[in-house]
Amino acid sequence: MTMLSKRIERLSESETLAMAQKSRELKAKGYDVINLSLGEPDFFTPDYIKEAAKKGIDDNYTFYTPVNGYPDLREAICKKLQRDNNLDFTPDQIVVSTGAKQAIANSVLCLTDPGDEVIVPTPYWVSYRDIVEMAEARPVFVKAGIENDFKITADQLEKSITPKTKLFIFSSPCNPTGSVYSRQELEALAEVFARNPHVYIISDEIYELINFSGKHESIAQFEKIRSRVILVNGVSKGFCMTGWRLGYLAADKEIAKACSKLQGQFTSGAAGISQRAALKAMETDPAETKPMLEKFRQRRDMVLEMLEDIPGMKTNLPHGAFYIFPDISAYLGKSDGENLIAKSKDLCMYILKSVHVAVVPGDAFGDPNCIRISYATSEELLKEAVSRIKKALEHLT
Ligand SMILES: Cc1ncc(COP(=O)(O)O)c(C=O)c1O
Repeated sequence: MTMLSKRIERLSESETLAMAQKSRELKAKGYDVINLSLGEPDFFTPDYIKEAAKKGIDDNYTFYTPVNGYPDLREAICKKLQRDNNLDFTPDQIVVSTGAKQAIANSVLCLTDPGDEVIVPTPYWVSYRDIVEMAEARPVFVKAGIENDFKITADQLEKSITPKTKLFIFSSPCNPTGSVYSRQELEALAEVFARNPHVYIISDEIYELINFSGKHESIAQFEKIRSRVILVNGVSKGFCMTGWRLGYLAADKEIAKACSKLQGQFTSGAAGISQRAALKAMETDPAETKPMLEKFRQRRDMVLEMLEDIPGMKTNLPHGAFYIFPDISAYLGKSDGENLIAKSKDLCMYILKSVHVAVVPGDAFGDPNCIRISYATSEELLKEAVSRIKKALEHLT
């Protein structure tokens, strides 16, 4: 048997990907599977971005790229942060990476030492926990329940900080809950951070453009803590560019320099063609993405209405991203006649096998009472999928 490192043994398989894999297997066997487990928009990358990428190829952006990104892209990111978020950054504070995921991994690896505590509000995006564990730091989970719209309070934050706390990681809009922190809620958290100058904050804003609450708010807007905020964003979700693998961070110069140093030894600079495409996205008026937002809002409303019609299912109103995270605990402990449905994982497997709909167990996000339903697919399929889920749940006793 191969002796793999403890580091890799500790790492869990991404459950979102595992579910997607199982649904592909069923599809290959000829079953009509509806996949609601995916974390990406079902729309194509806009043509104006594709054109910029094609020009990038013709202009020979095909060589190794600067580790922290082309200067004009970093300049454009600063202009975007100024235009949309009223934040002043300079290009030497920006590091362009192979997706927002790498920007997060860079930040965690550059800021934590083994044993440091990292506060992760639960439910969390799956990779936070594993990235923190890879850095040999210790994730400290702070539970935010559906009754508080899956958001932690300033009081909970204050109580979870210890002298060992180094970092806090969260996303708003949030994957998996779709929750969005308001300006006031962020300000209350910022006040706690202001009293705790040993804590850094990773603010994952990858769903910035998929926000139904009107205006995106970043925790980086609070001057008192700005130098300790690592703002992470990218083009994956807002511009339907998940496969282009392009994200970035904006942070204090010293942190940006460290992240660039780390990235230089791992992957080097992000792909040149993707950077040319991202440059176009940064220069685009965010209003261009409104039609997609409207579509997502219609789907959210439709799916929510259908879910509310299922006995025992509890929902909140998600204000962003493209997920609904209903509490299905009323169905745990039931049976499908053969097997006990003990965990949300069992429920998701039962739904997949019995009615061929793939959703993700909440266990993957640190909340075993919930499941994640992605509505990044057509209205027709969503309607069919939710009515199948309803039928499957009716059979449990
Ligand atoms: C909250 C959150 N952060 C980061 C990412 C990763 O983004 P990227 O595809 O740019 O690496 C995702 C993707 O699912 C996400 O949901």
